[in-house]
Amino acid sequence: MSIDMPLESASLAQLQQTPIDRVLNIIDEGLVQLPTYQELYYRWERQQWRAQEIDFTPDRAQWEAMPPEEQRIRLFGLSAFFKGEECVTNTLAPYATAMPDDDMRIFVTTQLVDEARHTVFFARFFKEALGVDHGSLEATLDVVEQNMNEKLRYILVDALNDVADRIRREPGKMTHLVEGVTLYHLVVEATMALSGQKNMLEIYRKMDLFPGFRAGFTAVARDESRHVIFGVKFLRDMIQRDRAQAEVVHDAVARYAPIAIEAIGPRQEDVPQILANGQDPWGTPRYAIESLKKKLKVVGLNMNLPAVPAPPS
Ligand SMILES: [Fe+2]
Ligand SMILES: [Fe+2]
Repeated sequence: MSIDMPLESASLAQLQQTPIDRVLNIIDEGLVQLPTYQELYYRWERQQWRAQEIDFTPDRAQWEAMPPEEQRIRLFGLSAFFKGEECVTNTLAPYATAMPDDDMRIFVTTQLVDEARHTVFFARFFKEALGVDHGSLEATLDVVEQNMNEKLRYILVDALNDVADRIRREPGKMTHLVEGVTLYHLVVEATMALSGQKNMLEIYRKMDLFPGFRAGFTAVARDESRHVIFGVKFLRDMIQRDRAQAEVVHDAVARYAPIAIEAIGPRQEDVPQILANGQDPWGTPRYAIESLKKKLKVVGLNMNLPAVPAPPS
């Protein structure tokens, strides 16, 4: 795909060839000039793709040829995304109900469809490429969830469900919705998901691993670019309407971001080995912190965030 080809209309086959940084640039451009909610909706209409279209045959052959130890490592990273997509699908509906303006609600309904599609994409990949299928989606995810660390489970399962329940019970209480969008769009999507996605897609691209998965996961990243820009714009607008909401965003970031950043970091016991391999154990969390900082700046917040060690020289 030529470098000038607009990502706007790129097909799955073209997205498969697109470096993830080009997709992430859409967000940076969106932060410079925030689009309207309606423009984000129209983007969604133009950026449709089909989970059913992807051929996982080459992915399956690569998976079957992989040594068990490498399978275990790959499964760990992929499982958090699969479970994460299910969690965000199941918790977004109350947000749509609670949105104060119609154009915000219309956008959030498109996001709900996106998250459902992402879950279907992962379910197909797990079944057809990795051979993981326990009958129903719930049964499969009960098994997949075992591969997640405690902190991932806290953010993706406990915290997302807790805030969604509060929004459902009191949809008119704006502090719940503002806390919810901070957790969902800023911490889960802009901080955890984008950094993990960038890391995974860059490694797989270098290894020429899982071509079918890479096509779909790059389409997922393009969808996430709309979700993240929506979240930043919504929080900025809510603070402009009511300054008191800035404190809600601040407190939610202070509460959830340190756990989210630890959740995507290396296990303490793996650090010496990663350093011995000449790699940077903190590349993903460092990118996550930088990503969050940029979004907070546009939201209008200046706050201290956790730091990770500098890259090894
Ligand atoms: Fe998603
Ligand atoms: Fe999303």
